[in-house]
Amino acid sequence: MINNDNVNYVNKKNYVEKKIINFSKPDITEKEIQSVINVLKSNWLTMGNVTRIFEEKIKEYLNVSYAIVLNSATAGLHLGLRALDLKQGESVLVPDFTFTATAEVVFRCNAIPLFIDVDRKSYLITIETIQNFLRKYCIWKNKQWIHKPTRTVVRGILCVDYGGRVCDLHQLKQFAKENHFFLGEDAAHSFGSEYKNKKIGSFCDFTVFSFYSTKNLTTGEGGVLTTNSKTIAKKVQHMRLHGIDREADKRKTPFYDIKTEGYKYNISDILSAIGVAQIERYTEILEKRKKIHEIYQKEFSMLKGIQLTPEYEGSSYHLYTIEVEQRNQWIEQLRQFGIQTSVHFKPLHMMTYYKKKKLYTAKDYPSSREIFKKILSLPIYSTMSQEDIQHVVSSVKTVYQNLHLKKN
Ligand SMILES: Cc1ncc(COP(=O)(O)O)c(C=O)c1O
Repeated sequence: MINNDNVNYVNKKNYVEKKIINFSKPDITEKEIQSVINVLKSNWLTMGNVTRIFEEKIKEYLNVSYAIVLNSATAGLHLGLRALDLKQGESVLVPDFTFTATAEVVFRCNAIPLFIDVDRKSYLITIETIQNFLRKYCIWKNKQWIHKPTRTVVRGILCVDYGGRVCDLHQLKQFAKENHFFLGEDAAHSFGSEYKNKKIGSFCDFTVFSFYSTKNLTTGEGGVLTTNSKTIAKKVQHMRLHGIDREADKRKTPFYDIKTEGYKYNISDILSAIGVAQIERYTEILEKRKKIHEIYQKEFSMLKGIQLTPEYEGSSYHLYTIEVEQRNQWIEQLRQFGIQTSVHFKPLHMMTYYKKKKLYTAKDYPSSREIFKKILSLPIYSTMSQEDIQHVVSSVKTVYQNLHLKKN
């Protein structure tokens, strides 16, 4: 029986049925389906009670004071920066090795993202990589860093917890304090990740998680901003729905006021219903991802010359990456085994849109360029069967024989 997960392909002798291992798949059970049906049968589809329940559950799970659920992590990053009043004439330090959303939101505030190279081993920004940049391009004047080429005031750092591994938040926080920076955290990959045995979400001025459909915990589209700051939380709460002073289902009269700038960034209760079911199963989802990570680490440890995912205790295990020579041929050969892969990330300074800004110089990013040349993300998700996992393992070993051993 051939379904969407299977394709016919030609090998040398004949057509055979081949299983496709998707790069990622959402983990949706009857619980999520029932939860959505309940909302559809209610009289309230947009943001309301179910979203508030989802927020309460997030606060409890992360042990954080405020959680504001939104329609994406991108919205959360934008609102977090606006809540800190980021504006024209200012800039923010962001990693070069990230998804475009991290930088795009800075432009959305009419400010400038300044790209920082990442640490070669962890793929994360560190105070060393930030200091290299500040020394080269900035001067310290009147207790603030000024970026000389753009004459902007460097307001803060937006760090990214790549693949589930968390930046050194204590170090970054101390550094931010000493340099009069805010510290925002793009944890789109890292819901449930820990730093020094504590779940992230409350270490920085704000933290943002994504619930996009490929993420560990998904609502299809969605995200959340978490913070312990009442001031930031209140601003974000108002800005997520046009700046209106009260949520629609709480209005007793038809009148409302607009107290702040606003955006249409709210989620719907239909999507929050998926989130409520997912968060109740999240410990089990994380555990499954961790097991797959462990199998890959063990099985691939014998592949000499291949850089595996750096170990990080307390990861959300969102990505499993390897670094290989001839990366594009690896992608092609794995595809022939039915295995979909991905590349996280092409450095931002190499993207056409950012190149056109003429603000970034390739030689400032040796690490992100070298990682990009070699990196490859393999499938890792909680609905992978033992058979799927074994197929990935044996295919990677065969491609290693074909490409790595034959060359070396
Ligand atoms: C590092 C990073 N930041 C932000 C985002 C944006 O997330 P969303 O699609 O929820 O806006 C992503 C999405 O994959 C991401 O990888």
